[in-house]
Amino acid sequence: MSGGFPEVRPRRLRSSAAVRRLVAETTLEPRQLILPMFIREGAREPIAIKSMPGVVQHTRDTARKAIAEAAQLGLGGVMLFGVPEVKDEVGSGALDPAGILNVAIRDAVSEVGDELLVMSDLCLDEFTSHGHCGVLDSAGRVDNDATLSIYAEMGVAQASAGAHVVGPSGMMDGQVGAVRTALDAAGYLDTVILAYAVKFASAFFGPFREAVDSSLQGDRKTYQQDGANARDAIREVDLDIAEGADIVMVKPALAYLDIIRQVRDHVNVPVAAYNISGEYAMVEAAAANGWIDRDQALLETLTSIRRAGADTILTYWAKDAAHLLNHR
Ligand code: PBG
Repeated sequence: MSGGFPEVRPRRLRSSAAVRRLVAETTLEPRQLILPMFIREGAREPIAIKSMPGVVQHTRDTARKAIAEAAQLGLGGVMLFGVPEVKDEVGSGALDPAGILNVAIRDAVSEVGDELLVMSDLCLDEFTSHGHCGVLDSAGRVDNDATLSIYAEMGVAQASAGAHVVGPSGMMDGQVGAVRTALDAAGYLDTVILAYAVKFASAFFGPFREAVDSSLQGDRKTYQQDGANARDAIREVDLDIAEGADIVMVKPALAYLDIIRQVRDHVNVPVAAYNISGEYAMVEAAAANGWIDRDQALLETLTSIRRAGADTILTYWAKDAAHLLNHR
């Protein structure tokens, strides 16, 4: 202090929009955002998902339009989820080339070609009658190794439908290796694996279950991780990279920002984070009540995930954010 006044004034670098723009440490750009989308088999109209205001189960047609728009906005990609009409014990719809997800991948690629990355969720939960991410053994437990061979086939089905990126998300041990081996054997050397490496059993997945008409009873705690554990997250990431993951994901994002930072500091591959359904629903619900400013809140949320260390973010706000970023 000289003469009672501060010598150093951090406020100087906050004093105008122009100077704030110059010194911003964290960037948020449309190319860093991936839009998750749901495509419902047999739908004639898009169907609103009540717990996720503004998100729909698309028809094949509306999905194509939305994907073309995503490309125009300069997004990093779309992550496709299928909602089949019929489910069975083993999730056959996931392997069927005429199954909704494989059809949606083909539609997407015919719409955007290589202009936009088309990514697909590689998991059985949307396709099984019991709603688990894998097949069950005779005791009703999720059978890890029996599931792996199905994931391997599913990966090849998605790659042959044209997916640029596959996202194994079922948390089976060895899933990345099984999918990589199968893709390579089938000649899909350039198909990228975006591994859901770290996935915590989370209450914040709630709205997603409506989004995919999930039939799950019980929980996923025997395969998804325990939110108390950070070291286990690093262990999962190491395994996935050793098995051939090109990009590793942490999911959910907001209750796990510390994990995103630890993973970013630990690995040399790109890190993705999934800003999940419950994180979206909380902001939308508060905004609908007039309790927070939606646009500010979504940009602040996405910025926090980037600042924590995520290179790319899967978010239901991808288009809204791109509009806001392109017009500011
Ligand atoms: C599994 C999968 C889930 C999500 C993405 N992939 C659900 C789960 O593990 O229960 C959740 C996404 C979200 O909540 O937004 N296929």
